[in-house]
Amino acid sequence: MALDTTALNRRMTHFDDHDDLWLFGYGSLIWKADFPFLERRPARIHGWVRRFWQGSHDHRGTPEAPGRVATLIAEEGAACLGMAYRITPETLRPLDVREKNGYLRELTPLHFEDGTSAMGLTYLATADNAAFLGEAPLDDMARQIAVAGGPSGPNRDYLLHLEAALAELGVTEEHVSELARRVREHRNDATALGVQ
Ligand code: SIN
Repeated sequence: MALDTTALNRRMTHFDDHDDLWLFGYGSLIWKADFPFLERRPARIHGWVRRFWQGSHDHRGTPEAPGRVATLIAEEGAACLGMAYRITPETLRPLDVREKNGYLRELTPLHFEDGTSAMGLTYLATADNAAFLGEAPLDDMARQIAVAGGPSGPNRDYLLHLEAALAELGVTEEHVSELARRVREHRNDATALGVQ
């Protein structure tokens, strides 16, 4: 799949004639909502887990030294908590650019805390995209996140903001909190050694 998914996403016209739609965010879209929205509500999607298995060449890393950011991995019986935003279809245009490093718009049912549900969209980076890194030992992933950085800032900030945002939503997720713990540890070691 192309490294830049903007054009592929523009072909996904599902909600073009709608007044609004629900967008589900599970990574930076939870804590960095720098786009207009009409409403936002915590929501879950079923059958997915959040994993730091996607490479970032454009935001939290570089092509030479990619960072690691979140994607969704299918897992039966799982549920992923995130933030749903009600947006107008035009808002997807800049978001397609923000998410262009391998993420494709995916249709998914969203489940809200009041028991209601709605069909919506999420940006999903699947294993066949050029930036996908996949699973690695937690320590290796943490070390990579601790040192990577790109135009949007240090990779560790992405992870630590996400950990904080999930805590605000009332959840601690082992994959995220264990990575964050190891990244902090790595930082403390580096500080003790006088390394930036
Ligand atoms: C998302 O947040 O929903 C997609 C991944 C990201 O931009 O971090």
